[in-house]
Amino acid sequence: MGLVLGSGLGAVRERITQFTDLPYSGIPGLPQSTVEGHGGFLRSGLLGGRPVIALCGRVHLYEGYSAAEACLPVRVLFELGVRTLVLTNAAGALNPLFSTGTLMTITDHINFTGQSPLTGANVDAWGPRFPDMSRVWCPGLVALANAQARRLGLVLERGVYIQVAGPNLETPAETRSYRQLGADAIGMSTAIEAIAAAHMGMRLMGLSCLTNKNLPDCMAETSHQEVLDMAGRAAADMAMLLEAVAQAMPTLDA
Ligand code: HPA
Repeated sequence: MGLVLGSGLGAVRERITQFTDLPYSGIPGLPQSTVEGHGGFLRSGLLGGRPVIALCGRVHLYEGYSAAEACLPVRVLFELGVRTLVLTNAAGALNPLFSTGTLMTITDHINFTGQSPLTGANVDAWGPRFPDMSRVWCPGLVALANAQARRLGLVLERGVYIQVAGPNLETPAETRSYRQLGADAIGMSTAIEAIAAAHMGMRLMGLSCLTNKNLPDCMAETSHQEVLDMAGRAAADMAMLLEAVAQAMPTLDA
């Protein structure tokens, strides 16, 4: 199982035992993260007794990387043999019924960045030129996450994640628009990684930590520090859930 750990979710990597770390700087061609709260190394070890490789820190479009560059670490995971991938992030809640500090499992996404990691010549060894996106997020893994959350007594919302390019947060009018498009949570990562992973035929699960609430008619200010603090607080729940998910994860036949 592969893991991509988002902003402030360091507690998850602490649950990985018998690990070896490899800094991104030691992997030729891997982009370097420039954002506070993003470590920048690959950790392989055991989570819930199962072998995992975690990307601790990711790069974003707003750092100036192309979508293909930002998704290179996910392609590295694929080349290392990862076929089941869990993408995590910190996100703003757009659904007014969702509370901050809770987790959401991603059932679908909207790529609102205007960019795709598949732009340019297709690498046929990874996947087809025009990959299907009708079932990017594995329903079986959504059900698995739900079952484990219930067992652990954790609230787990489910919803649609929209990725914007950032780095600015949203105006009230944008927030209203994104909600009307059908999104429940918003962030600056994940959808493009999901596209790269789906292109390569990976089985995907997504977990968002809802760090702030975006309500267009009573817009509150949001700071990056607040996002990191809230993610830090919810990271223990995320870690517990991911450990349980890893333990219960069915193996693939292929
Ligand atoms: N908007 C965009 N990205 C985010 C947010 C938000 O409100 N919170 C965390 N990442």
